[in-house]
Amino acid sequence: MRKCDDFFEHLKKQDLAVTYDEVRLKTGLSKVMPSDVSLGSFFSRNVPLKIPIVSAAMDTVTESKMAIALAKLGGIGVIHRNLTPKQQSEEAQRVKFHLSGIIAKPITVLERMTMGEVETMRKERNFSFYSFPVINSNGKLVGLLTENDFDFCGDFSQPVSKIMTRALTVASPSISMNGAYDRMKKEKKKVLPLINSDGTLAGLYLFTDLKRILLGQSKMYNVDKNGRLRVAAAIGTGEEEMERLQEIADYVDAVVIDTAHGDSDPVFRMLKAIKKKYDLDVVAGNISEGDSARRLVKAGVDGIKVGQGPGSICTTRIVAGIGCPQVTAIYSVSKAIEGTNIPVCADGGIENSGSIPIAIGAGAHSVMLGKLLAGTTEAPGEVDFQFGSPMKYYRGMGSLSALESSRASRERYRQSDGGGNTLVPEGVEAAVPYTGDLSTIMHQYIGGLQKGMGYVGAATIPELRKKADFWRITSTGMKESHPHGVRIMRDAPNYKRDSD
Ligand code: XMP
Repeated sequence: MRKCDDFFEHLKKQDLAVTYDEVRLKTGLSKVMPSDVSLGSFFSRNVPLKIPIVSAAMDTVTESKMAIALAKLGGIGVIHRNLTPKQQSEEAQRVKFHLSGIIAKPITVLERMTMGEVETMRKERNFSFYSFPVINSNGKLVGLLTENDFDFCGDFSQPVSKIMTRALTVASPSISMNGAYDRMKKEKKKVLPLINSDGTLAGLYLFTDLKRILLGQSKMYNVDKNGRLRVAAAIGTGEEEMERLQEIADYVDAVVIDTAHGDSDPVFRMLKAIKKKYDLDVVAGNISEGDSARRLVKAGVDGIKVGQGPGSICTTRIVAGIGCPQVTAIYSVSKAIEGTNIPVCADGGIENSGSIPIAIGAGAHSVMLGKLLAGTTEAPGEVDFQFGSPMKYYRGMGSLSALESSRASRERYRQSDGGGNTLVPEGVEAAVPYTGDLSTIMHQYIGGLQKGMGYVGAATIPELRKKADFWRITSTGMKESHPHGVRIMRDAPNYKRDSD
């Protein structure tokens, strides 16, 4: 039993559904300071979060830069799928290889390659690191390239075998993280290759990463059991999508079956096919009804995404005339699958930080953000000056330009490949203000969530889901909630009126 059950059941009797601007959380006895609340949650059955924030699988929101920055803050990014499988896999790998405890599959180079070839590969694949184990044609470890080798290499036409360090400190794959750290510290080695008894490479430890993990310098990083940043990726439902999955499966913590209608045959087929072949968490969506959620849970889903049409750039509800206002949709879905342990992600329509505790109070375990992240430095695309202000481009994945340029977008919105006048968009193209670095704005969003929890008296995310109760408010109530009757003289870092 949740505190808000009566509120939603009462509305349901009148066939009424509400969204963010129509409700506010009731305050309650509070024994927690906002700064002391715990924000841990789950994106899917086996993928935890340290903050309940997920970045949208959109081509103007989430590629590796966003996913790395968000995972470092405790959330997770979903790499969009308007990319070839190879490109998408490379984006996921950039996140997975950004830092790690053990690097199970290090990027290696051959001893006969030239230094120039290695440098070109490094740049093409956007790798920020310089440590490469060198292997011979039999796959055996023969040396190591490090940053010094690149810095002091006067002639890049030389083969790697001439430049690399041959006298290596190596260890067996069974060495523990602590053992590896002590050994590297003692021998002043920044890289420790692990080798099998036949001399082939079994993995790699980096001193800086181990130090960070073992000395707790990055408590908030959302990392997997090997100390690598967590990341998810979007996939579709077409037959060729199993090939995409094969490319990305080793580098992601979860895949998201990313469709505009998650309660549909292609989604169930894809879900079952993935679960049969892979040991991987699968989040599916989007839906907005309780019955849809029950069907997905029955089919074996590990996480559900809620939201059909609430997004800032969505026109689905206007074009197709469907959909349920988002706060009721979140409640209906979470209520229908209560007790199943399947997390719910509230996707779309979050306009300001206050909507985050509302979404969680209505039953979500996390929120997915598009617009609120699209203006950050880490979102793909450049800052562009429009009307004298720095802006970034943000488009719906079902907008005309996305449908025209991407087959994945056409599949997401169930459109044929005809093109031109035959396309029926479900989103728009827009621009959003440039908001600077992700960490700066995230501080405000998280601060708002913590404050909301403090007012409700919830010390944890599960407690917020349990204790939250709502007032339904009128448009006058909303007007009262915003600053009114004054002229704002100085912008607040966490408040802007839409009309501003
Ligand atoms: P916000 O409000 O955070 O919403 O900008 C992001 C979410 O919107 C969804 N999305 C779309 N929905 N047409 C739609 O109906 C579109 O073109 C479109 N593009 C994205 C998506 O779920 C995203 O996470």
